[in-house]
Amino acid sequence: MSIYEIWNEVDLYMNDKLIQPDPILDEVLKANQEAELPAIDVSPSQGKFLHLLASLKGAKRILEIGTLGGYSTIWLARALPKDGQLITLELSAHHAEVARANLKRAGVSHLVEVIVGPGLDTLAVLKDRGTDPFDLIFIDADKPNNPNYLKWALELSKRGSLIICDNVVRQGHVVNSESEDENVKGIRQFMNALAQEKRISATAIQTVGSKGYDGFIVGIVE
Ligand code: SAH
Ligand code: DHB
Ligand code: MG
Repeated sequence: MSIYEIWNEVDLYMNDKLIQPDPILDEVLKANQEAELPAIDVSPSQGKFLHLLASLKGAKRILEIGTLGGYSTIWLARALPKDGQLITLELSAHHAEVARANLKRAGVSHLVEVIVGPGLDTLAVLKDRGTDPFDLIFIDADKPNNPNYLKWALELSKRGSLIICDNVVRQGHVVNSESEDENVKGIRQFMNALAQEKRISATAIQTVGSKGYDGFIVGIVE
């Protein structure tokens, strides 16, 4: 077995022990596949981790940037109280349509607003709306905009809010200062901004598993 296969096997083993069978989430992934969405959703173990963080935080208001088919959205929304709210931002009208159907399937539509458009534009609209601060913000969209999303996360959060950013390791490419990859450059700029940012205390969690080698940032607004 290659190391990648072992990571995948261990993920499957742990999920079998720790995550209840979930026909709805299986249907969601199938619907995504049928609609030809890229299979870049968080993994089940990562989804559950997001869910646990939202629960730990007692999050009532969650902001997600990058919906895709709503797989991570569902994990997060399931941690919300009855009067909670999740706003998720998606560029693609097609992805958003698939996500809305999936959210309905999962019975969380009433908790979630999917807003279509470029994330940066929608964030400005949310601010103009005078939206209440979010308890948890999950950044998982176009990586070159990560430094901008970090600024907005600070703008739309409050003391104690959690800021989580996906895909910050990228099979280790994050340490390549010469990388020409726009995604890697975006992550590195995000990391530089975070390094300078006294208002956020953060750490990086490197992950291996069914999605290979990657990781996320978890930070708290001080
Ligand atoms: N959070 C999802 C995965 C998101 S994939 C999950 O884990 O299930 C990244 C998504 O960001 C894609 O659906 C892509 O269409 C969207 N995206 C890309 N550029 C964007 C932008 N400028 N604004 C908002 N969403 C964007
Ligand atoms: C990509 C994006 C993601 O959000 C992810 O979790 C994995 C891969 C990508 O754009 O390749
Ligand atoms: Mg991601």
